[in-house]
Amino acid sequence: MKKLRIIGTGSALPEKVLTNAELEKMVDTSDEWITTRTGIKERRIADDNTATSDLVVEASKLALQQAGLNASDLDAIIVATVTPDTFYPSTGCWVQKGLDIKGIPAFDLSAACSGWLYGLEVASGLLTTGTCKYILLAGAECMSKVTNWEDRNTCVLFGDGAGASVVAATNDDCGILSSTWGADGTIGDLLVQPAGGTRLPASHETVDKKLHTVHMKGNEVFKHAVRSMGDAAAYALKEANVTGEEIALFIPHQANLRIIEATCRRAKVSMDKTYITVHKYGNISAGTIPIALDEANRVGRIKRGDTLLFASFGAGFTWAAIVLKW
Ligand code: ACO
Repeated sequence: MKKLRIIGTGSALPEKVLTNAELEKMVDTSDEWITTRTGIKERRIADDNTATSDLVVEASKLALQQAGLNASDLDAIIVATVTPDTFYPSTGCWVQKGLDIKGIPAFDLSAACSGWLYGLEVASGLLTTGTCKYILLAGAECMSKVTNWEDRNTCVLFGDGAGASVVAATNDDCGILSSTWGADGTIGDLLVQPAGGTRLPASHETVDKKLHTVHMKGNEVFKHAVRSMGDAAAYALKEANVTGEEIALFIPHQANLRIIEATCRRAKVSMDKTYITVHKYGNISAGTIPIALDEANRVGRIKRGDTLLFASFGAGFTWAAIVLKW
């Protein structure tokens, strides 16, 4: 069996910054409330002409450049997203078009905030068994396009962006040391975009009632998030026979600083070893982990041989944690 190695990372964020001060003018909220409850100070917002695949293509070009590969070297494209350009074709196919290649499989993976970690599990299966040599794995969202800008409970939380990684099969001593992933569909109603699918097709009524936007019972989601992410991280560490102190860097999903702090306490990982982006980008769902990974990689927070921990939790509900030797 081959191992996997992430040989290139890239990210792309829209230029427009939306600050808490600007949100104060849009809904009944305050910088103080948002900062103390979530840790978020600002987030990036895509313009009307930018779709999820546009950000992925930009991030992918950077990842390919770092990997020293051309798009034509890829064997597959996986895009983790819940905000696709279109239901079909998949965002993966639009990314393929944007990279000006064709022939290789391209598809989307829907696991909300856990999407990139689910994607790494799928990529691992394809790489270690020899089906693929190089996979482009992206996590990306334009959450602003499914946000109800009149709902203060949700509109302060999310942002847009893309992270891309080139994952390669290798014989080197690296790759996934342990992993856990799971889902609980029985509590799916706590965080849902109700309309636009076959359960509630688009109609004038669904548009009027803003049912094509995020609907969330934040408080209950918070409790599940803390438990699932913390337990998944602790389990992955135990399976890898690694302690929180031996981790070089923890890259958690970035939904809320309080959820990250609680996860760190549960998994016994110090906050100094935890990479934080939530203050400047908010929750980019599937985009948060690959964007944070790219930033950490480019500022030299990660070196070959380091042991990394990833953990996530998202709509579905889904969760995942991976211990990876870089
Ligand atoms: N500004 C001011 N007040 C607000 C705001 C706001 N933006 N939003 C809510 N409030 C009010 C509420 O109306 C409520 O008022 P009330 O007591 O008069 O009814 C009060 O603040 C407390 O509301 P709670 O929901 O109990 O606040 P909580 O401390 O739980 O924080 C938050 C809310 C930040 C949403 C938190 O619950 C959270 O982060 N939940 C997890 C969210 C999450 O991770 N979601 C993403 C999952 S990832 C994915 O798959 C997309």
